[in-house]
Amino acid sequence: MSLKYDFSGKVVLITGSSSGIGAVTAVQFARSGANVVVTGRRADKLAEVAKQCQNVSPKQFKALEVVADVTKEADLKRLVETTIRQFGRLDILVNNAGAGLNAPLSDPGFYESFQKVMQINLNSIVLLTHLCVDHLAKTRGNIVNISSIAGLRAFANFSPYCMAKCSIDMFTKCCAAELGPKHIRVNVINPGPIKTEFITAMGLPSDQSDSMFDDFGSRIPVGRAGLPDEVGDAILYLSSDHSKFITGSQLTIDGGTVASNTMSNDFAKSI
Ligand SMILES: NC(=O)c1ccc[n+]([C@@H]2O[C@H](COP(=O)([O-])OP(=O)(O)OC[C@H]3O[C@@H](n4cnc5c(N)ncnc54)[C@H](OP(=O)(O)O)[C@@H]3O)[C@@H](O)[C@H]2O)c1
Repeated sequence: MSLKYDFSGKVVLITGSSSGIGAVTAVQFARSGANVVVTGRRADKLAEVAKQCQNVSPKQFKALEVVADVTKEADLKRLVETTIRQFGRLDILVNNAGAGLNAPLSDPGFYESFQKVMQINLNSIVLLTHLCVDHLAKTRGNIVNISSIAGLRAFANFSPYCMAKCSIDMFTKCCAAELGPKHIRVNVINPGPIKTEFITAMGLPSDQSDSMFDDFGSRIPVGRAGLPDEVGDAILYLSSDHSKFITGSQLTIDGGTVASNTMSNDFAKSI
């Protein structure tokens, strides 16, 4: 059965929507009639995504573009204020922005790396959720957090990233327990390798990123890395009434990586 989504009348805020999973998800929501807020630090990329959203939107809605750095408290406040000023409501929050960082414990800058990774991947989600919760209560809304298989399994040299993602998983469950009575559902997705700008954002050239995704994909049960829309499909499902009894759940989307234990420390060490 193919699921049909109608998000018309809904306002969706997706962090990290200037590329990768967030950008594709923004377009998927726009296609389903939602008003979409796209945000990230790169204004040019946001403009491209907003254009794609408008092209597929049934009523040619233009996405609201908000240039913001999720590590800055003032930017997150402005992001929420601008959304509410423009649309008067918020229905769905997708906490997707994130970045990896190679951080061996013996590196002189290890502790700074730890703080940076936590700011980007965890603190931002905690603060943004706090800022949005009263708005979501008004609309009986929905939160989808994007974690990682790194929250489920350990990777050498990536302890800060693994800890941040693991904390997102627990934050999700606590939020679900606390916000259920307010009719807000909260779920988390743990993606495996998905072909995005994730590795290039860590400073590697795109040809190396491609070959790393291909190499890792070849070692997992489905034999390939995932695509951003394969995560986006699940985000739409978890945000929709098709999943109205699902909250506090973790959905692993990894082509069988965790189930088959085919993750490799070599992969993480090579970044
Ligand atoms: N791809 C994978 O294999 C994979 C696997 C597991 C989990 N994930 C998770 O999936 C999520 C999306 O990543 P992706 O794979 O789609 O990678 P991506 O293409 O690099 O996208 C990352 C997004 O996060 C935004 N971002 C990063 N730092 C930011 C900051 N300080 N302030 C505001 N926005 C920031 C980026 O926007 P700007 O650069 O414009 O700021 C970009 O839109 C992340 O949480 C990541 O940890 C990815």
